[in-house]
Amino acid sequence: MSTPAITLDGLTKDYAVGFWRPRPHRALDQVSLEVATGEVLGYLGPNGAGKTTTLKLLMQLIYPTAGTAEILGCPAGDVDASLRLGYLPELPYFYDNLSAEELLIYFGGLFGLSTADARERATTLLDRVGLGAARHQRLRRYSKGMLQRVGIAQALVNDPEVVFLDEPMSGLDPVGRRDMRELIRQLGAEGRTVFFSSHILSDAEALCSRVAIMARGKLIATGRIADLAFEVRGWELVVSGASADDVRALGLEESTREVDGRQVIELAIDQPPDRILPELARHGAQVVSLTPRHESLEDYFMRVVSQPGEAS
Ligand SMILES: Nc1ncnc2c1ncn2[C@@H]1O[C@H](COP(=O)(O)OP(=O)(O)O)[C@@H](O)[C@H]1O
Ligand SMILES: [Mg+2]
Repeated sequence: MSTPAITLDGLTKDYAVGFWRPRPHRALDQVSLEVATGEVLGYLGPNGAGKTTTLKLLMQLIYPTAGTAEILGCPAGDVDASLRLGYLPELPYFYDNLSAEELLIYFGGLFGLSTADARERATTLLDRVGLGAARHQRLRRYSKGMLQRVGIAQALVNDPEVVFLDEPMSGLDPVGRRDMRELIRQLGAEGRTVFFSSHILSDAEALCSRVAIMARGKLIATGRIADLAFEVRGWELVVSGASADDVRALGLEESTREVDGRQVIELAIDQPPDRILPELARHGAQVVSLTPRHESLEDYFMRVVSQPGEAS
């Protein structure tokens, strides 16, 4: 078997909390995980789960209390391996008197690109993250979402094999979230290994080969989202050929909206679709799609963590 792109082995981190009588707070507890080359892994968990701590340990911004982290077969912090990785921090901060283009040319130079090559790379990357038109603007005039995009471009400057993104969707509006998902999907399609964190389950849907779910510093589950036992909380039913009146006749108007001439109906768990579908069919409706709505990550982890036998 080839070496995994990322290996965490018993990774543990205690922070000292309290000023007068510091005591250890275990932010990360014995996390072991392997990420294969080319895999897009969603590292999911509610706030405080230990995601940022894991990424900081991988970047060697902080040091583990116990355990090890390896990237491309080298210990975290290895200089040669660090040239082959990219990192978007949770709260990227850039010198805001630079333009996006100047910033990327500067980073390109740090990775040994000539000014001409760095300029070309900057143009390509800024177009790729949708900032081509704003590339000469000072970063201080950028919105949170635009800075997030600059951060991604910065993380890709050295054409990295492994990309670490800490909450890449945060601060983005729905269109920005969709663009970011598409970009991450492309990075995976290009054969890069992507490790991204999020506190929102749906950010990882239809994007990751696998997810790892963290809660209170522990890895509580890994697998494909479809295989993890997320409880179904309802359904989204989309039908064509039915009018708003047809839906109203079934008493579903409260939970229905019309999009592009189709009725989008949110069904609760006590409204199983098999009861409503024949009714709708009688009105000439055709099913476009039926999608389960799953519980949130918070709900999942509250349920799993509070199960008997599970330490909290
Ligand atoms: N520098 C720090 N000092 C003390 N505690 C910290 C520090 N950074 C994070 N923590 C604590 O460690 C836990 C994990 O935090 P973090 O890794 O930031 O979680 P996440 O990124 O999943 O939201 C939290 O309880 C947080 O309060
Ligand atoms: Mg975080």
